[in-house]
Amino acid sequence: MTLADASTNAPGKWWRNAVIYQIYPRSFADGNGDGMGDLKGVEGRLESLSELGIDAIWFSPFMSSPQKDAGYDVSDYTDLDPLFGTLEDFDSVLSKAHDLGLKVIVDLVPNHSSSEHPLFKAALRAGKGSPERSYYHFADGKGEDGELPPNNWQSVFGGPAWTRIDDGQWYLHIFDSSQPDFNWGNPEVEKFFHGVLRFWLDRGADGFRVDVAHALIKEPGLPDVEELSSSMTGSDSDPKDEKAHPHWGQEGVHDIIRGFRKVIDEYDNRAMAAEAWILPLSKMAKWVREDEYHQAFNFEYLATEWEAKRLKEVVDESLFEFGAVGAPSTWVLSNHDVIRHVTRLSYKEIPKQGDGIGPDYPQPDEAKGQRIGRAASAFMLGLPGSSYLYQGEELGLPEHTTLESEYRQDPTFFRTKGERVGRDGCRVPIPWEADSPAFGFSETGKSWLPQPENYRGYSRDRQQGVAGSTLELYKRLLSFRKSNALGDGNLEWIESLCTDSTLAYKNNSVLVVANFGPDSLALPEGEILVTTQHDLSIEGVLEHDQVAWIKL
Ligand code: GLC
Repeated sequence: MTLADASTNAPGKWWRNAVIYQIYPRSFADGNGDGMGDLKGVEGRLESLSELGIDAIWFSPFMSSPQKDAGYDVSDYTDLDPLFGTLEDFDSVLSKAHDLGLKVIVDLVPNHSSSEHPLFKAALRAGKGSPERSYYHFADGKGEDGELPPNNWQSVFGGPAWTRIDDGQWYLHIFDSSQPDFNWGNPEVEKFFHGVLRFWLDRGADGFRVDVAHALIKEPGLPDVEELSSSMTGSDSDPKDEKAHPHWGQEGVHDIIRGFRKVIDEYDNRAMAAEAWILPLSKMAKWVREDEYHQAFNFEYLATEWEAKRLKEVVDESLFEFGAVGAPSTWVLSNHDVIRHVTRLSYKEIPKQGDGIGPDYPQPDEAKGQRIGRAASAFMLGLPGSSYLYQGEELGLPEHTTLESEYRQDPTFFRTKGERVGRDGCRVPIPWEADSPAFGFSETGKSWLPQPENYRGYSRDRQQGVAGSTLELYKRLLSFRKSNALGDGNLEWIESLCTDSTLAYKNNSVLVVANFGPDSLALPEGEILVTTQHDLSIEGVLEHDQVAWIKL
């Protein structure tokens, strides 16, 4: 199959070119004034998303949960947490989204449940060797009295990946101790999750984002890891290491994916995307073969710095590897686990994924971050395939980098005793109206994480209709992206404009030119559709860290 064939859109396969907007329910909009975002709040603000020009929404988890990891610790997969509303609220927001032409994707968390899930509670009660325990990974410890963990695996959030219980056994949790890992070797676990998939599909969900999809299968015997690491790729030194890792990216995962796919294919036009931190992309591409996931997050792209040569390589590699298996490439710059890209890209040395930025860390250069961040978004949104946006990035919202320890909620902060501040800085409630309480997030002014004062200037109402604002930039990018069918297009580099400090590609009838600086660049002839440059009067010239879209 050629690249051109692979990127051709088949009718109805909406995910191939979709711009998917991530809603983090805690922080989008609060409908009942308790300071925590909820689905009523989302419903009230949904028009602003259709106006933005996105195609689909992905909701981070809103299911019942003790909220030890902000909802990624589910205690009931088929009900809503009262914090976010009721199943009826879900039906209502779904139906409104559909009326507005937006698809709705639900987050599925199959690697682990909450320790409050009835299955885990039953496992604890039932005792050693029982069928109930076989839903999870329970094991005896090492040492004379089994006082040492069964192996040396580390939790992603810091510390050992095992916790000991009263009867002396240990259970595995790749994340927090409140998130025991399911044992996918037990066929009952698969049956259970197929039921969960059907529940949401029957309710009308258009698909799933599958959480830590690369961790479901553990190597039999649970052998020690060679390198102690808390990273999502299993390596701090060489994340592209091809060696098999005992709990990341095991081959057996593919059978589970095919099982999910069969269920999804019982329904019309639904899709699922994998959150799998698998590198290199040649390996990742195996996850999106014809009978597996429809798409996977491109974390290699997210991790790429604002640097011409490297960016070109990653784009080529992505289109080639995903194209080779007939899947669309995806693109992403921000989400609820990483430092917001307008902040991240202003640093030369970016803190490790998940570590976050606190008041003691060198503070970002906000103006530089805005410049590069906007340029990076404009570069991404011209690429063929599907793009993910994280709520607030359309406002150019920066990370909250001075959040005091007393407000921290990410388990990473607690498990590392504050050494890694964690991900709260990208999860702060977003600003809607500059002069309203909590910048319009909640009528009472309550906000589960305090908003920094500089969020006022990024409020939606301050940007709405203002030429050159980041919000209007995103709207223009999304509108031209759609009218020129860029999501379904083909990328062709304009080699004469690809240097160490500039890049240019053609996609359908749009030329995307990026200048990484330091010098300014003379723009090729043509009607400028959209530019990240604030000073719209500079004609024919593209300053450093700016991107322009030109009509061919
Ligand atoms: C995924 C989620 C992250 C969560 C983790 C454990 O990486 O994106 O927020 O903490 O899984 O569920």
